Amino acid sequence: MTQDELKQAVGQAAADYVAQHAPAGSIIGVGTGSTANCFIDALAPLKDRFRGAVASSEATRKRLEGHGIPVLDLNDVEDIPIYVDGADEIDGGLNMIKGGGGALTREKIVAAVARTFVCICDASKRVEVMGRFPLPVEVIPMARAHVARELAKLGGTPVLREGFVTDNGNVILDVRGLAITDPKGLEARINQITGVVTNGLFAVRPADVLMLGGADGVSTIAG
Ligand code: A5P
Repeated sequence: MTQDELKQAVGQAAADYVAQHAPAGSIIGVGTGSTANCFIDALAPLKDRFRGAVASSEATRKRLEGHGIPVLDLNDVEDIPIYVDGADEIDGGLNMIKGGGGALTREKIVAAVARTFVCICDASKRVEVMGRFPLPVEVIPMARAHVARELAKLGGTPVLREGFVTDNGNVILDVRGLAITDPKGLEARINQITGVVTNGLFAVRPADVLMLGGADGVSTIAG
């Protein structure tokens, strides 16, 4: 199977999971990226079973609305039984690097509300130690240089994502060269730097379920 076919397979598997596990009339959390887009397309035929969705980005909101799926403001939602999203890397503890698409902050907020986080990936995203994929850090623009100096002190090489502004009006520093052996500790440490909105490590709140698409089909791994 091609990488696109693997993404479609995990997107469909996640829609099946949602149909099976989310109570009728509930609200589904929806992530961002090419794999999440496959999930949205697979979810569309099931839309009458759910009240609507919460979107983790403007791009996702537009795609959901394009399918006629109502998108709710998170402030009006108390319970999200399931959140489905992709990842840039995921380790054996279901810790992730996210934010390749720049939506990390809203993704982390929706994940914080969700009861179950289902991560959908093709097998290329599964790693032993995270850090090969540059870690995205969302930063308030006036703090960019300060945050970059602090990230360098932690051993990373931050690079400004040129020409990119997040849905929240901020910039992204992509940090190369970090060997992430303590994901939870590093997530907390980077978030303490003044001017950081959040970083793309999802270890304090990892995934609960991983649906991994590989040559033999989709395997489901519980955390
Ligand atoms: C978006 O900001 C990211 O967190 C995505 O979830 C992640 O980059 C995976 O994207 P793809 O499914 O396009 O690889």
